Amino acid sequence: MSQPLRVAVLISGTGSNLRSLIDARDAGRLDLDFVRVISNKSDAPGLEHARGTGIPWSVINKATAGDDQDQVVGDTLAGDAPDLVLLSGYMRIMGAELVNRFEGRMINQHPSLLPKYKGLDTYRRALEAGDAEYGASVHFVTAELDDGPVIAQTRLPIEPDDDATSLVARLRPLEHRLLEEVMALFVQRRVTMAGAGVALDGQRLEAPLQWTPEGWRA
Ligand code: GRF
Repeated sequence: MSQPLRVAVLISGTGSNLRSLIDARDAGRLDLDFVRVISNKSDAPGLEHARGTGIPWSVINKATAGDDQDQVVGDTLAGDAPDLVLLSGYMRIMGAELVNRFEGRMINQHPSLLPKYKGLDTYRRALEAGDAEYGASVHFVTAELDDGPVIAQTRLPIEPDDDATSLVARLRPLEHRLLEEVMALFVQRRVTMAGAGVALDGQRLEAPLQWTPEGWRA
């Protein structure tokens, strides 16, 4: 049996993904050791998930760290020695120096089928483009915004009467499940960043893994 995966989670908002990972740990599905939750917003509702479960937490923003935010975030993370840093709705762009400190050990969730719709407003942009499908991605973080190697995705069809609200409502539970499945791969030490790509069990992937509610698709 391998060691629990030491994970630090960075949030800015509701932290529903963090909550679902805590629940998966508590249910015995994921061998995770949450070493810290960091928020850049002192009033992020997601901090309650850390407070309520005894996970160490910190607020690091301009008010607490001045212009050295990246330095303080990096030093705080380094002090906790995480195996993996998860950006989960963390709405702050990190500088290259911080990203490079954790290269290969930092992942982000993004609500689009990357490389489509990097950045903000992804739901609206997909609807306005008339896309037939939408989805979510989990990717390694590199210095370019939402540009690192994509590990895995999940997809759903866009219905004619969908709006941004209905798409969020349908995607969010799928995102939670995708994240749990990706975290399981990390717990099993099966995924690594391989140059500009991703390796699973030491084999470089030609395309991101695709997850459906029925499981991983070949
Ligand atoms: C998710 O949609 C994630 O893809 C995006 O931010 C959202 C976070 O939601 N990066 P929550 O804070 O976990 O509820």
